Amino acid sequence: MLAGKRILLIISGGIAAYKALELIRRLKDRGAAVRAILTRGGAEFVTPLSVAALSGEKVYTDLFSLTDESEMGHIRLSREADLVVVAPASADLMAKMAAGMADDLATTALLATDKPVMIAPAMNTMMWQHPATLANIETLARRGILRVGPGAGDLACGEVGEGRMAEPADILAAIETYFRTGARLAGRAALVTSGPTHEAIDPVRFLANRSSGRQGHAIAAALAALGAEVHLVSGPTAEPDPLGVRTTHVQSAREMLDACLAALPVEVAVCAAAVADWRPAEVAPAKMKKTGAAAPKLALVANPDILKTLAEAGNRRPRLLIGFAAETQDLIRNAIEKRKKKGCDWILANDVSPGTGIFGGAENRVHLITEAGAEDWEPASKRAIADRLAQRIADHLQQSAA
Ligand code: C5P
Repeated sequence: MLAGKRILLIISGGIAAYKALELIRRLKDRGAAVRAILTRGGAEFVTPLSVAALSGEKVYTDLFSLTDESEMGHIRLSREADLVVVAPASADLMAKMAAGMADDLATTALLATDKPVMIAPAMNTMMWQHPATLANIETLARRGILRVGPGAGDLACGEVGEGRMAEPADILAAIETYFRTGARLAGRAALVTSGPTHEAIDPVRFLANRSSGRQGHAIAAALAALGAEVHLVSGPTAEPDPLGVRTTHVQSAREMLDACLAALPVEVAVCAAAVADWRPAEVAPAKMKKTGAAAPKLALVANPDILKTLAEAGNRRPRLLIGFAAETQDLIRNAIEKRKKKGCDWILANDVSPGTGIFGGAENRVHLITEAGAEDWEPASKRAIADRLAQRIADHLQQSAA
């Protein structure tokens, strides 16, 4: 699968460095050639000897060596690779990358490389969620740096949360996806919302809408097919979880919002869910009984607007934020208005008037509203629309990487 591919693996400091050994073994098993740079911090956790034994190559360390510089300078080291992988990428190394620093062999190679770079961050949850780290991630994403993970789980520091380095198998999968042709979104994190929400009235009744989740699920699958790391947050639907997509199931709008915020940061978010605008002000703790002839009155309160919340998420705002506008009249005008009101980048406008059969159907007809105006897309299956949107997203992320 990776025969003939040359990987430059940079191992920075952190307990997750031991997983880099496993990654080397797996890369070698797939036929890749692995050359490794061990930072000073990395060498505190794994020895140059074990890295050399597994990679079958000399290991490059920070120790300044005249022979190394003449045999294999940092420029050649970084250029003679098809892909540079940083695993683990510590908060410190990412900060240095974002700032363009070059004060050791790893950072010098990263600054000198003309090859794609993929990072696998690993750190304590608080460090991962720190605004400084988030800003660095954002900067690196803008430059087209690919990212895999981190995931959530037990951390070496004894805390539990996000910051755990992606497993070697997942990093390997991301690398393989990158090399597979067409993997235009490899290393890109995406969030998709889909389906309706259910707003409880009592333990057995709820308010809902006719959304089937078909379009949102198709978008999640299309983004994953291009190699993106997709997190789908889905309301109750009959749609199966798309393959290769991390799916979180929720019921209510508030649960959907929490799951979306927990999925950040992502580079692109597509809000395709038909989120209930209102929910019952109170949920009856037991099934409401018929008492006499009078029907109960339902008081409603507004739900949070997930799309708008993501738009206002500051340095956690997805770089490309896409909403839907399901309208039954004045489609384009309302959608243009909605793009501004919600603060998102694009809106997919679709006519859901009863005669169209779009709600629950397999076909869709949409108009893409961007800053530049409205584009009519010819009617197509929801799958085909999802594929077209995924390609547009890939075009946009490629163009805006600077
Ligand atoms: O305001 P309206 O519901 O028409 O906006 C539609 C867009 O906003 C969709 O992208 C939908 O997913 C999103 N939305 C949301 N949270 C809400 C309401 C709508 O994310 N509470």
